[in-house]
Amino acid sequence: MIKLDKVSKQFGTGSLGLSDVTLAVDKKEFVFLVGPTGSGKTTIFKLLIREILPTEGNVIVNDWDLMRLPKDKIPHLRKKIGVVFQDLKLLFDRTVFENVMLPLEVSGINFDEAKKKVEEILSQVGLIDHKDKFPIQLSGGELQRAAIARALVLSPDILLADEPTGNLDPATSWEIVKLLSDINERGTTVIMASHNTDIVKNMGKRVVTLERGKLIRDDRQTEKKEEDKKDK
Ligand SMILES: Nc1ncnc2c1ncn2[C@@H]1O[C@H](COP(=O)(O)OP(=O)(O)OP(=O)(O)O)[C@@H](O)[C@H]1O
Ligand SMILES: [Mg+2]
Repeated sequence: MIKLDKVSKQFGTGSLGLSDVTLAVDKKEFVFLVGPTGSGKTTIFKLLIREILPTEGNVIVNDWDLMRLPKDKIPHLRKKIGVVFQDLKLLFDRTVFENVMLPLEVSGINFDEAKKKVEEILSQVGLIDHKDKFPIQLSGGELQRAAIARALVLSPDILLADEPTGNLDPATSWEIVKLLSDINERGTTVIMASHNTDIVKNMGKRVVTLERGKLIRDDRQTEKKEEDKKDK
């Protein structure tokens, strides 16, 4: 469960990231976050992982009030939220396998168990045959999949994907959204920021629209039938 209650964020520079945003996302929901560049999408993600604090209002994730979350509990929060960053943040001197292993290395589980988990996730995202490649050897869609795998390896409750189809062709974009939708169907709450109007319209999911930091629409569309999606 995610809740933003009358949240505003003013940055030190004076620029307004969010203005009086109230939004609740239930467990296991799939939500698109849309709006023009600079409308506050990434700011919402940064608030949810407590990279930044709101200037006003409250942010609740699971049962944590992030304004009151002690610093030493932040790693615990971040284990519950997987993030696919807008710029991916993959390490270019490590293989796909090593990138996905990274969150597990710090979590302290033993190597054999970690390896099994990484291979399971890489199979799930369709990257197992590329596991020993370096990011520079991958296509845009494969890079996204690697970042998604890394975000999922700690089995988070929530997955935040920031513009995951940004630089991809239409067919690859659909594959990535399909993957996120499968992950959601397995029980993970997914929030995806997107500029891709074709995908957003045709998935039939809830769409939250921001404009200059304000939440201006919240549409719960009716789910499209599988046959309709296949026509696309
Ligand atoms: N660290 C920061 N310091 C100052 N201003 C910031 C900072 N981060 C974001 N902003 C401002 O807050 C507003 C919202 O930015 P945000 O990154 O959330 O937009 P966005 O919707 O993710 O845009 P895009 O679609 O381009 O990714 C913008 O006006 C931006 O310039
Ligand atoms: Mg952004």
